[in-house]
Amino acid sequence: MDSSTNSSSVLFYLNGQRVVVESPDLDQTLLQYLRSTGLTGTKLGCGEGGCGACTVMISRYDVDESRIVHASVNACLCPLATVDGKHIITVEGLGTAARPHPVQERIALLHGSQCGFCTPGFVMSLYALLRNNPNPTELEIEECFDGNLCRCTGYRPILDAAKTFADQAWKQGKSIDADGTVHVAEPKGCGIEGCCRLQPKSAAEQAPGGAIVHDPAKAPTSVDSGCCKTSDSGCCKSSETSSGCCKSSDSGYGEANQAEVEKAAVIAKFQTYDPTQELIFPPFLIRYAKGTTGSGEPQLKPLDIASGKPASISWCTRFLRPLTLPALLAALEQHPDAKLVAGNSEVGVEIKTRRAKFAVQINVNDIPELRRISETAQGATFGGNISLARFERELDRLGEKHGVQRTQSLAALRENLRYFAGSQIRNVATIAGNVVTASPISDLNPVFMATNAYVTLVSLTGQRTVPMADFFVGYRRTAMKPNEVLLSVTVPFNADGEVVRAFKQAKRKDDDIAIVTCGLRVLVDASGRVADAAFAYGGVAPTTVLARGAMAAAIGSTWGDSAALERVLDACRQELRLDYAVPGGMAEYRTALTTSFLAKFWAAQAHSERDRRLCVGRQEYAAVADRAIVGKGVAHMAALKQTTGEARYVDDMPALAGELHVGLVLSSRAHARITGIDASKALALDAGVVRVVTARDVPGGNTWNIFHDEEILPRDEVHFYGQPVALVLATSQRVAQDAARLVVVSYDDLPAVLTVRDAVAQGAFFAETRQLITGDVGAALAEADLVMEGSSYCGAQEHFYLEAMAALAVPQGEDGAVELFASTQNPAEVQMVVAEMLGVPASRVVCRVKRMGGGFGGKESRSVLVAAFAALGAHLTGRSVRLALDRDEDMQVSGQRHPFLGRWTVGVTREGRILGLRMHVFSNGGFSHDLSVGVLERAVSHLDNCYRIAATEFVGRVCRTNTQSNTAFRGFGGCQGMLLTESMLCEVADRLHLPVDRVREINLYKAGDVTPFSQRLDDWNVPRMWLQLKAKAAYDDRRRAVDAFNKNSRHAKRGLALLPTKFGISFGVKHLNQGMSLVHIYTDGSVLVAHGGTEMGQGLHTKMAMVAAETLGLPLSAIFISETATNTAANTSPTAASASSDLNGMAVYNACKELADRLKPYRERMAGEPFAKIAKTAYLDRCNLTAAGHYCTPDIGFDWSKNEGMLYFYFTQGVAIAEVELDTLTGSHSTLRVDIMMDVGRSLNKAIDIGQIEGAFAQGMGWTTCEEFLYFPSSGRLFTQGPGNYKIPSAMDIPRDFRVELLEDGDTSMLKTIFSSKGVGEPPLFLGASVFFALRDAVMAKRQEEGVDAPLHMESPATPETLRLACEDSLVQLARIPEALKKGKVPFTVRI
Ligand SMILES: Cc1cc2nc3c(=O)[nH]c(=O)nc-3n(C[C@H](O)[C@H](O)[C@H](O)COP(=O)(O)OP(=O)(O)OC[C@H]3O[C@@H](n4cnc5c(N)ncnc54)[C@H](O)[C@@H]3O)c2cc1C
Ligand code: FES
Ligand code: FES
Repeated sequence: MDSSTNSSSVLFYLNGQRVVVESPDLDQTLLQYLRSTGLTGTKLGCGEGGCGACTVMISRYDVDESRIVHASVNACLCPLATVDGKHIITVEGLGTAARPHPVQERIALLHGSQCGFCTPGFVMSLYALLRNNPNPTELEIEECFDGNLCRCTGYRPILDAAKTFADQAWKQGKSIDADGTVHVAEPKGCGIEGCCRLQPKSAAEQAPGGAIVHDPAKAPTSVDSGCCKTSDSGCCKSSETSSGCCKSSDSGYGEANQAEVEKAAVIAKFQTYDPTQELIFPPFLIRYAKGTTGSGEPQLKPLDIASGKPASISWCTRFLRPLTLPALLAALEQHPDAKLVAGNSEVGVEIKTRRAKFAVQINVNDIPELRRISETAQGATFGGNISLARFERELDRLGEKHGVQRTQSLAALRENLRYFAGSQIRNVATIAGNVVTASPISDLNPVFMATNAYVTLVSLTGQRTVPMADFFVGYRRTAMKPNEVLLSVTVPFNADGEVVRAFKQAKRKDDDIAIVTCGLRVLVDASGRVADAAFAYGGVAPTTVLARGAMAAAIGSTWGDSAALERVLDACRQELRLDYAVPGGMAEYRTALTTSFLAKFWAAQAHSERDRRLCVGRQEYAAVADRAIVGKGVAHMAALKQTTGEARYVDDMPALAGELHVGLVLSSRAHARITGIDASKALALDAGVVRVVTARDVPGGNTWNIFHDEEILPRDEVHFYGQPVALVLATSQRVAQDAARLVVVSYDDLPAVLTVRDAVAQGAFFAETRQLITGDVGAALAEADLVMEGSSYCGAQEHFYLEAMAALAVPQGEDGAVELFASTQNPAEVQMVVAEMLGVPASRVVCRVKRMGGGFGGKESRSVLVAAFAALGAHLTGRSVRLALDRDEDMQVSGQRHPFLGRWTVGVTREGRILGLRMHVFSNGGFSHDLSVGVLERAVSHLDNCYRIAATEFVGRVCRTNTQSNTAFRGFGGCQGMLLTESMLCEVADRLHLPVDRVREINLYKAGDVTPFSQRLDDWNVPRMWLQLKAKAAYDDRRRAVDAFNKNSRHAKRGLALLPTKFGISFGVKHLNQGMSLVHIYTDGSVLVAHGGTEMGQGLHTKMAMVAAETLGLPLSAIFISETATNTAANTSPTAASASSDLNGMAVYNACKELADRLKPYRERMAGEPFAKIAKTAYLDRCNLTAAGHYCTPDIGFDWSKNEGMLYFYFTQGVAIAEVELDTLTGSHSTLRVDIMMDVGRSLNKAIDIGQIEGAFAQGMGWTTCEEFLYFPSSGRLFTQGPGNYKIPSAMDIPRDFRVELLEDGDTSMLKTIFSSKGVGEPPLFLGASVFFALRDAVMAKRQEEGVDAPLHMESPATPETLRLACEDSLVQLARIPEALKKGKVPFTVRI
């Protein structure tokens, strides 16, 4: 490239301001740049494009399309050097908490933000959608979030809030153009005659903001509140069984449904969304893109940027951005080893996860020749580097232009693109990037191959075309020569008689890479015979392949003929059979998928998911009449700060002078003796490495956790792959991490055990046993009609809080003091462990927690280690030290939910009554105790779930294995215990040929029954909730409807499950059942509350502020909670066990009550005066305006050795009904409807509690369905290290119809809790398993049809693989690998 015309600076606009960066850091992503400038609203959740926390909007002028394009983009995969000429808008560019943008306001006030860490990403995805289309449909709104993950909310409130942007225009009968022009149109109905949306709006009135709202004072009229089912044609959003309605108020609560009333009141106050008020696209950038800037103005130029940094610490040292094809080819000639980069979605992940270095990178995004789209009579040609989003639009356009038959191939591509990554990736990723990567699981390549597409390659020597069938020559290798560029891909139009379909099966429907994917094409002649066929598969070989045998078998056959299909399937299976140990694993499933796809295709069953149902939700609760504040559905107090990006998390804190970062040296052995640590190479890295720290540098105690059986840094032995062995302290995170990889640790290997089954077989246990023996199990079994033996298993679960663990340690420079800012649920333990490790009194260590981006138990104990590492570094260097884990580090280091294995012998009557149960359970504790004994106790004490079992022998042990130390996770063993028993009940029901809900029902506890841990159930609401929910959700009718559906449907089966839960509230360790608070009233009347609980999104601070406001008789706005700190609330319990509101709420109440009592005389004397004046008067009167509160749970304490005492203070209870539809050919499924009724006593904040229920449910559903935590058995290394291969539920996975209701008429007189409320954080999680059991029900329907009579043993999680294989149809049978062929082979991955 001609250096005189090149530029080495990038020019862009950031939130409306022009920015020029001279010689940008070539290794820096846009995310890192933004955060370094203080714009920390954009978050790092994964760094690999998989979570959406880093979403920003990038706008550019598209010269080809002559329009401004706004795109949501993952800033974590966007190199800074590529933003030249763009306008970047971050969450800070929209609004502030004081003046929020409508998107920020609506998500905040409709409860769409809990911990807030994902929230800016959601805000930006929706904002980008609205900038492109201010009048989106509800479907477009749902789909715009396909690249965003939220771990807290369960998505429903986010979707609800976002859909107000669809409703707004809809309700007003208006549409809004991209330029902001508002058209008044006919009101739109949903397409059904007489739709309720078209009814007269008699009881609705126009709100100031333009939205139609219900007047809370008026009872809804029948027209307004009624479902459109009142018309004969049924509700527009209902199916035969899932009766959602476009009117959300068919609650039966009518006026009393306070959830609707509160929602309407909030919506009424929303600002109108006015698209004309958005930040404009700078006109200068249009001229810049067109190359028409005036003299004296900067011009678009080719970029040539050299990093100037040593190659040893750079991933890229030279960055070129040519602007023409000849310039690109010349640059490639000059730098034959250069890496071409387009969307960077593949290259960026290689750099991030494999730390690949590409010294010279050539960006191809601005080459017009690579973005051309043309067509001939034969087909359409797409420039290699058009984005996939543009590709989608073009495919739609061509489909409309040329009609369905000619564009069968294009439609198949469109179908697979629908499930290709998330919007943010599709907005940048390109066709060429996908094709040239040559991934065997590419979604496009099989379709290209099957459709006879070809690529055109260009180099300085000319052009050539290569058919796609010849393009892939090996694993990630193509027929391209080093100096060639992929210019375009041409897809032929289809002839008459051609049928083309694409299929993709992944672990999760949205934003997931394929397990198996395919493009299938046949040409059917006039006589109905297959004249030509192409079946191309990805995910079954190192490259995309054609199933030539199956193709040959198809040709000449009659299309659709079932006998012919058998031959085709047989040929396919012979040819694509996989070895048991195949890389990627799932050999039988993948084999079964290849034939299942063909069977679907042959039966013309390929149905588009376009008709996927929209998500509707309903929340129901009653108004609270007797309290001013407590009980109301107040939004999370920090919600607006979270939606605007103002809320600060640990890693958002500005860098302190001289700050160092920690790089973790991780063990590369599962179990080994350390024979040496050589840090010389790391220290030689002359780039800011300050020190390497090992166990020998720990000044005080090097052991921690309650059993003191774990070293902070290991001295002699490592116990799991990924264990931190040493720390590197350096001036930047990148250098610290790079240097850590240069530290050489040598080992002598020791035997390792990974799985709970292996550990049980080897007797690898920790010493503790927990048991609950009641009655005479032997006698009960002898008496039983049926005695069954079996086992149940449930797998691990990664917390996947969106904010990975982080800590910042600031040495105080005197007295050995250190201040810690940590993302921890347990500041007191951080303080104590750090003090012990440093050898200083605890009074010298302060741990402060502002908020966490989610915790879910994962930051209860394991966060201590992260804070300890930072503190150790700070102590040794005297400098501030920051450690913010990357997602992969967090997942490897931190510990998960305990997997459990249960072995049972049960005796039942013929009617299904359980007489006796012997259940021995084993958890996988990992390498150290951590909290495993507590988890075990809760598991053992929840084995009964809601059932009376007269004789029990519940025994539990914790296995010692060579994995991370498994730890607390919402539900804390309780949900594992319940799942083991419920799985057993299903197998019992199978054997008795009884419906499992019948078995459940007849065994339910009655009030007054006594549990196996000797606790009488007086406050017992499960039986009535069971009946109420059954009636309300029309369970019996729906059961019949499901059975009828299943009779008439061969491959799609529905399932239904009704599941109860009870969850004991209290810490198992008696002394933890205490809470404390410190409340100050200042002389201006403001109130500062400190208490022992931490805020991780669960709304604890909001609830505590409500308690304080109610008790002090003040408005909520008078109360402020700044943080949780060990110097204001000492010796606190972790925020855990769903008990924090109980414990700290009472403590806050006690302090506030004392203050209220002290102020009472002043208030009486000064009635009607402002509180500030009252406070000031009291102060002048020397009244103490500070009070400390303390509370300890009465009567609590259980002796396991004697089975005596009170284990739980009370039980939070609930019932759920789930209905699913399963595609038995693939194992993918949809949750059609879920109804939940939850007894949370008299809730402190009903909206927050509904949010907890929905969020916990989604987590439980994820745990038991899509979340599979896997290890490589050969090395003990964790396989699932990020969102790329660990799949939490996405917005599309949540129930399409999600109804949550609080039990309102329960007797709360027995509750001695704060305002008679119950803990809610953990209890609803188990109800997520109702989806697991509904899926099991659907599988049973298929098995019955297939004539399989054996009880179904189904382990959690029920992934698509588990479900497909459990169907046991003929295709599965044929895919099975004979045991003899498995012998001696190690599977690719294992559950532990
Ligand atoms: C979160 C996430 C989800 C994903 N989901 C999917 C999915 O569902 N399905 C799927 O198939 N893939 C998926 N991918 C993979 C990836 O996004 C695609 O392969 C994408 O199409 C790559 O395009 P890109 O422009 O970003 O490529 P880049 O990363 O820029 O480049 C990839 C490769 O292509 C080469 N290249 C680019 N342009 C040219 C050209 N014109 N000539 C020659 N070589 C060129 C580059 O040199 C490089 O080797 C996903 C990736 C991420 C990060
Ligand atoms: S941080 Fe960018 S997608 Fe997760
Ligand atoms: S609010 Fe979405 S991850 Fe916490």
